[in-house]
Amino acid sequence: MESQVDEVKSRVDIVGLISEYIPLKKAGRNYKALCPFHGEKTPSFMVSPDRQIFKCFGCSEGGDAFAFLKRMEGMEFGEALRFLAARAGVRLKEYKPSPAEEKKETLLKISELTSDLYHYLLTKHTCGEPARSYLKSRGITSKSIKDFKLGFASPQKNFLFRFLAKKGFSPQDISLAGLTLTTNEGIVDRFKNRIIFPIFDTQGRTIAFSCRSLGDDEPKYLNSPETPLFHKSKALYGINLAKTAIKKEKSAILVEGNIDVISAHQVGTINAVAPLGTAVTGEQVEILRRFAENLLFAFDTDLAGDAAAKRGIEIAENVGLNIRVVELGEDKDPDELIQKKPLEWKRSIKEAVPIYDYFINSALKRFGPSGAESKRKVAAEVLPQLARLTDEIIKAHYLQVLESKLGIEEGILRAALNKYQGEGKETRDIAEILEKPLSERKASIVEKYLLALIVQSSHPPKALEEKIFEQTETREIFRKIVEFTKKQGRLKIKSLAKTIPESLLPAFDEILLLEIDEEILADGERVEKEINYCAQRLEELNLRTKLRQLSLAIKQAESTGDEAKITTLSREFRDLSKALLRPETS
Ligand code: UTP
Ligand code: MN
Repeated sequence: MESQVDEVKSRVDIVGLISEYIPLKKAGRNYKALCPFHGEKTPSFMVSPDRQIFKCFGCSEGGDAFAFLKRMEGMEFGEALRFLAARAGVRLKEYKPSPAEEKKETLLKISELTSDLYHYLLTKHTCGEPARSYLKSRGITSKSIKDFKLGFASPQKNFLFRFLAKKGFSPQDISLAGLTLTTNEGIVDRFKNRIIFPIFDTQGRTIAFSCRSLGDDEPKYLNSPETPLFHKSKALYGINLAKTAIKKEKSAILVEGNIDVISAHQVGTINAVAPLGTAVTGEQVEILRRFAENLLFAFDTDLAGDAAAKRGIEIAENVGLNIRVVELGEDKDPDELIQKKPLEWKRSIKEAVPIYDYFINSALKRFGPSGAESKRKVAAEVLPQLARLTDEIIKAHYLQVLESKLGIEEGILRAALNKYQGEGKETRDIAEILEKPLSERKASIVEKYLLALIVQSSHPPKALEEKIFEQTETREIFRKIVEFTKKQGRLKIKSLAKTIPESLLPAFDEILLLEIDEEILADGERVEKEINYCAQRLEELNLRTKLRQLSLAIKQAESTGDEAKITTLSREFRDLSKALLRPETS
């Protein structure tokens, strides 16, 4: 088994694997990207082909291909192993799944059989007749019924339960799949007399059900509860069918309801998906960002839809997606517009407006453009949003738009805007710190950067002394590099990594993945210069630390009146500060 895991590992290329999810850009020896696991606008997600690992310097998520699949697809180790083995063409001999994986497999089987049964009842059985005619009245075609595998839950109290029990599944597992309830009548089906919209994951596996009543019965929708397969905040209705189109179009359309998704697909907008009755979550937006960088919001035109869109926009914006809003006009939701005027729907998508236009339009619609109080309300809502804009030209553009819509001078609006400026600054990540002049960097970062220069350029660490490294980790790694180059002559990263002890590997990987300006890396002379500069700075920083310690010691000696000690310490202090002030020699 062990050897098979190694074989799979050695055959998988992590760069190929990860680039199926997010676009990777070459950066020296490594690749970089916007991290798929947290929101950011400048890339701090790095992938090393040498070490077959990834690491995000923003959220510190990292690891090998298995860790990536676990985080990205929620795969258990065994699932990831089978997935990667299949990709690499490795035949796994014996693999014993863990109890958790076995349970998941069972639940997946139950869910799939359930959706088969529901689909059969809708399409073939007489009991499905009312549901068939309801769907027809809503303009849902039989192709859609097949594509989305729509179904119907029998009105009988435990039709599904008996079906599954006959197939040999235990009542516990059926209940764990979220399909039954225990009442004083015994075990009954959770969904009865409802149209079934199975929910699939990105890989097309059945994970839950969203179930609509036939007429106006309340509640309109009943969804599966949270189960080991289904986490509502991570699921998107239609993602299995929309995934490829989203990648191809480089954009996803987010609508509110299941039926909106189906109608959209029916007229060819097959990149539409919907959250499941909740406001859009960060997790859902992250899933979409794996496939595309543009997101179109086509939410209902009522106030709730407006509010939901605003919250969703904020979440999506934080993640760095480009967002536009589809304005539906008079119709209450995409489904209504699509069924009545499909061409207009397509036009609205083409003409989707940037979010700031949408914010302005939405505020104007609600408060109106005239009267002091409504103008104040519009400004109070829109200006904080404009304050977040970093591009001055774009900001000026929207201030002018507001000027013309409200009839208030741009200068006055700008003064009001400045009050909101500076709220919600982003936290700095390591990539940004590294762009700052060296003087602001902490010694430990300089130490790592220095080692990164050596390792990534395969530059032998000629004239450097071990003692300039204050941190044990970096000093140890430096020692390993020196040993290795002495023996091998050249620095080869893969073989070097094999000599690094396990406990130092995280630090080593970080060094390997630190982003270095490519122009520097490509130019041996510049690398050398940068290395010398870092070494000098480290000496200087170390000197400063020593001076600080000395001055503290002198103060202490002064307070105890220890004259002899004061004299020696002061001399030491003087000599050291001379060294610090000495003009740079090399
Ligand atoms: P909508 O009320 O817009 O539903 O709710 P819809 O899918 O467009 O259906 P029609 O057109 O009214 O027939 C949007 C989504 O919110 C969830 C469902 O996922 C629905 O698709 N929802 C709605 C619930 O989870 N529970 C509810 O009671 C209502
Ligand atoms: Mn609807």
